[in-house]
Amino acid sequence: MGFDTLEEPVPAEPLDPSADLSSVLPMTASIREGHLWVGGVDMVELAREQGTALYVMDEEQIRHQLREFRSWTSFHWTEVETVYAAKAFMCKAMCRIVHEESCMLLCASGGELAIALAAGVPANRIQVHGNNKTIEEIAEAVEAGVDRIIADSQLELRRISAIASARGLEQAVLLRVTPGVKPDTHGYIQTGQEDSKFGFGLNHGLAMEGVRVAAALPGVRFAGLHMHIGSQIFALQSYSKAIEVMVDFMRRVREETGETVRDLDVGGGIGIKYGLADEPSTIEQFGKVVVDGIKAECERNGLPVPRILIEPGRAVVANSGITLYTVGVVKEIPGIRTYVAVDGGMTDNIRPALYGARYECLVANKADRPRTEIVTVAGKHCETGDLIARDTPLQPVETDDIVCVCSTGAYCQSMSSNYNKQVRPAVVFVRDGEARVVVRRETYDDLMRCDVG
Ligand code: LLP
Repeated sequence: MGFDTLEEPVPAEPLDPSADLSSVLPMTASIREGHLWVGGVDMVELAREQGTALYVMDEEQIRHQLREFRSWTSFHWTEVETVYAAKAFMCKAMCRIVHEESCMLLCASGGELAIALAAGVPANRIQVHGNNKTIEEIAEAVEAGVDRIIADSQLELRRISAIASARGLEQAVLLRVTPGVKPDTHGYIQTGQEDSKFGFGLNHGLAMEGVRVAAALPGVRFAGLHMHIGSQIFALQSYSKAIEVMVDFMRRVREETGETVRDLDVGGGIGIKYGLADEPSTIEQFGKVVVDGIKAECERNGLPVPRILIEPGRAVVANSGITLYTVGVVKEIPGIRTYVAVDGGMTDNIRPALYGARYECLVANKADRPRTEIVTVAGKHCETGDLIARDTPLQPVETDDIVCVCSTGAYCQSMSSNYNKQVRPAVVFVRDGEARVVVRRETYDDLMRCDVG
């Protein structure tokens, strides 16, 4: 499932030097003369040219993933809208790709909304969510004219109503409901259980009251329901269970309030392959469970099939991205382990420290050699937990080699920090032999830009 805890020793992975990493590398990855290439670009040369740490994204694969999600619409003869969750990875170039591929954008904050608008994404292709949006964020969304605001509380519904009415506008909202389902993932990224800071619970009539309030308030149009049960989910039964609960609630909404749920948003969360042993569901399987499940439940409850919204984040970008580092110190502790220190770490990838996330690595300039060593790839920051990959197979490695960490396209750059006053890496998109810098590497001046003292 791709998680470990620092307390428990990691069982050494069985060493299979011939292991094929193509399933965790971007789809255009290949090996030429010992070097890793992505998008027709030599990753070793790119790392030397641009400096490391460096995020590289395979534009072809991002577009491919978005198309895979989009293809449901025609495949299942149902209206399905793919709303990419920008928090997984966002910059203006990414927003434009999402829009060009006819997907919508889900923003989690005023900052994300500002970037999406600056990239030229029309507001009616943007949705906004968050469990505690500020009054300013709500006003920005309403004024921009976003397609939907996903409302998490009665307080928020009232604020949306006041803001929209004062401007003579009507804002469409979805109500976020926690269906009371716990999926098979890390506790920090389970979000659909009743004990959650997100959304309206179904017990004690809270969600029903939310619908009544949304339907009655001026300036607010109740458009439907939203759920998001968690992230990095492998077992699709959690979605089936949650859909059953949501459609049952849709029926009760109609019976008790007369309101029809036109949109049913099932959120994101589809898991991806980080480790070679991971077996996530395919987009196709996920699609089938969601679309067939909603259709079947609607039929059972005598309801029209709503427009279906899905909000994938990780599944769009995770395997499209890699991080390149240059190796510095290689510290061998006899009988214990070898630390391979790189020029980045928890500032550009917090996930191992935060969730015990596991990643596959390779030496990009020795990509044709077998991974015959077991080493620990460590960051350069002042924390023992600043490790990128513990006890992981790698080619024999030395100072100045380029290490590639696979599947880092989601929740790495977007969760990056300036801890230890580390400058954030650049992001380079590669495609058809071209590399373009879409986010430049920070400078020391950037570190002091807001430091006005
Ligand atoms: N929709 C909503 C309302 C969300 O909160 C999220 C993610 C998504 C969609 C997209 O979920 P995805 O398809 O990416 O799983 N930082 C964590 C993940 C947090 C996910 C938060 N919500 C990590 O690095 O694993």
